[in-house]
Amino acid sequence: MKVEIVRSHGTDVYEVPLEQDSMTVMDILDYIYTHVDHTLAYYKHSTCNQAICGRCLVTLDGKPALACAHRVDPMKERIRIAPARGRVVRDLVIEQD
Ligand code: FES
Repeated sequence: MKVEIVRSHGTDVYEVPLEQDSMTVMDILDYIYTHVDHTLAYYKHSTCNQAICGRCLVTLDGKPALACAHRVDPMKERIRIAPARGRVVRDLVIEQD
């Protein structure tokens, strides 16, 4: 799957193998960070990760999605992940109130 990510410096495109039947957006971001690009900034909450805190909110194909909970359709060939609305701190990290 091709994954476009709107970052602070522009849009990067990554190739991510779908190793599971269904990956969350967070699984995809973790894969990119671990295996491809260690400079990618995104919010990861080690003790939440289950749609409670709301801090991992991103925009997936134009709609808001919690990265830790939203499962990506494995049939899609391309997705686009952008920061959620708000002031961007870096890449997918937005200022939290
Ligand atoms: S990490 Fe808390 S809602 Fe996703």
